[in-house]
Amino acid sequence: MDFNELQKLMSRVVTSFTAAVENAGIYPNDHPQVLSFIRKTYNLLGELLEVKGEITIILIGDTLMVDKRPLIILDSGKTAFIQIMRDHLIDRVTFVRGLSFAQLEEFVRNLSSASLAAMRSSQYIKFGKLRIKDHDEQDPDHDDSPADEIDTTYDAQVQTTEDRINNIYQNTLDGEKINLEDTDEIVRHFMDNIHREANPLRLLAETKSNDEYTFTHTANVGILTLFLAEYLGFKGSYLNNIGVSAILHDVGKVTTPEEILSKPGPLTSDERTVMETHSTKGAFNLMEQANIPNIAVLAAMEHHMKYNGTGYPRVKGGWEQNIVSQMISITDVYDALRTTRPYRPDPVPLNKVKHILTSESGSSFNPYLVEQFLNLIDK
Ligand SMILES: [Fe+2]
Ligand SMILES: [Fe+2]
Repeated sequence: MDFNELQKLMSRVVTSFTAAVENAGIYPNDHPQVLSFIRKTYNLLGELLEVKGEITIILIGDTLMVDKRPLIILDSGKTAFIQIMRDHLIDRVTFVRGLSFAQLEEFVRNLSSASLAAMRSSQYIKFGKLRIKDHDEQDPDHDDSPADEIDTTYDAQVQTTEDRINNIYQNTLDGEKINLEDTDEIVRHFMDNIHREANPLRLLAETKSNDEYTFTHTANVGILTLFLAEYLGFKGSYLNNIGVSAILHDVGKVTTPEEILSKPGPLTSDERTVMETHSTKGAFNLMEQANIPNIAVLAAMEHHMKYNGTGYPRVKGGWEQNIVSQMISITDVYDALRTTRPYRPDPVPLNKVKHILTSESGSSFNPYLVEQFLNLIDK
């Protein structure tokens, strides 16, 4: 297939894919029009993938690139497609041979409904944000020619939210500094999704395995806390710092032994003592890093304290838990109860979780925050 043929076919893929996403956002799931656009996209992509094995579309500024060259396409289709990518903070999509109709359909429906939980790369549809390599670091003799720029961009690393969360934990484990670009980008990504969705529960991911727990728990607590904070009226840099605090609340767990974290039964008192050190360890670790907001240090330390002064770490009487820690203590418990854990194969039913929050309102949790949180998840 020469480039002209590729161009033509690719522009038809983009147009029909865009129509599929737009229609899926308007019509019910089984509407024939939605299915027909997905089917058309699937057939066109199938033709392409049969020849090429995989195809990547990259967004650079206002230009779509395919095979390192700009894709020529009708303006209206192009604008709508670019908007879909931007809405989901996607700069690059790769379709791989072997893609099934059901996978394409799921991808289309996720893009139309803005479900963060389901928006994860798979073997046959990979997507992510571009991080352009720093030329000075990579190649001191770089001459900045446009062709080189495109090549470099094409090789750029995909950084998903999952990668960024894993980076944070890995850097902490290695004794390196947390990159605030990562935390800010995660918060930005969450806020973008939050603004498209009225009910936070539809954005939460499910835990499929223990390996995914760190990512899922961090993402869920981040999303729920940001939702609650914005609902309460926090804005701008306050809101951002609350999001950063939620993302970093359990960073002290990086040194907690795996056999304690994934123990299927109840912890012994010695194991519990080790587990409970994660909050102070996290706080000390964050405190050593000059660029981390103070509130994140406080939230790491205080998120297992209770409203009535009990919980851990134990502190002297008169200590007042910060409101951000109080928010995280609610979203943290909510997520821990609603996801599968090694010691509890099924999540606690939603009604029971609400009952637990209500019955511990005033003792474990700030009553006003419980009330607002329940209003929010009942929306
Ligand atoms: Fe914790
Ligand atoms: Fe937690």
